[in-house]
Amino acid sequence: MYVHEMKELMVRGAEAEIWRVDWRGREAVLKKRTAKGYRLPELDSVIRKERLRKEVRLMRYARKAGVPVPMIYDVLEEESSMVMEYFPGKRVLDCIEEGRAPDLEVLGGYIGKLHAHDIVHGDLTTSNILYDEITRRICFIDFSLGERTSDTEEKGVDLHLMREALVSVHREPLDKYEAILKGYRSTFAHGETAIAKVKEIESRGRYL
Ligand SMILES: Nc1ncnc2c1ncn2[C@@H]1O[C@H](COP(=O)(O)OP(=O)(O)OP(=O)(O)O)[C@@H](O)[C@H]1O
Ligand SMILES: [Mg+2]
Repeated sequence: MYVHEMKELMVRGAEAEIWRVDWRGREAVLKKRTAKGYRLPELDSVIRKERLRKEVRLMRYARKAGVPVPMIYDVLEEESSMVMEYFPGKRVLDCIEEGRAPDLEVLGGYIGKLHAHDIVHGDLTTSNILYDEITRRICFIDFSLGERTSDTEEKGVDLHLMREALVSVHREPLDKYEAILKGYRSTFAHGETAIAKVKEIESRGRYL
């Protein structure tokens, strides 16, 4: 790992610390999974390495599928860390709260591309998508709970999480979710089957 300088701690999450760093003169972000005291140390380090590998692998697949994710600069398994491009934007969550949502049809189109390539994000909320209002670029992050699978149910869960974020968390009218679906259908030929799953997941949730 080649890190000049740890500049500042941006976020300390449950699993990881996000640091702003300078990487060979570039503005970058270091994501470091921290040790969990409640897990056996050996097991803990295996889990952290596994999550890191998965995240890196899925980000590479996403990029190949044409979905914007930060460029990965470096990976250091022994430190459960990766260095990636710093994306100058805010979480879509904050943008929506401020009434400045990105183009949701475009965003839905990216979700469709992920699913068309059998990439399930696993934690598809408005906290894990960033948006730069100046360049209007969108960037997907935090793939550590994701998977490569053709399973329609899992794709439905991704969409369900997105719907929940918009409709329940942000209390946005359904048309925002509909805009996402419009984009989704345009990039994923079998999109309709995953969309149908969302309805099934939701009706199940209500009666459980
Ligand atoms: N490449 C990046 N550029 C700019 N900001 C970032 C970048 N990666 C992460 N962040 C910021 O850090 C926050 C947390 O990142 P991330 O979602 O990857 O971590 P986490 O939720 O703690 O991870 P995990 O669920 O894998 O433990 C993001 O919401 C975002 O604000
Ligand atoms: Mg996150």
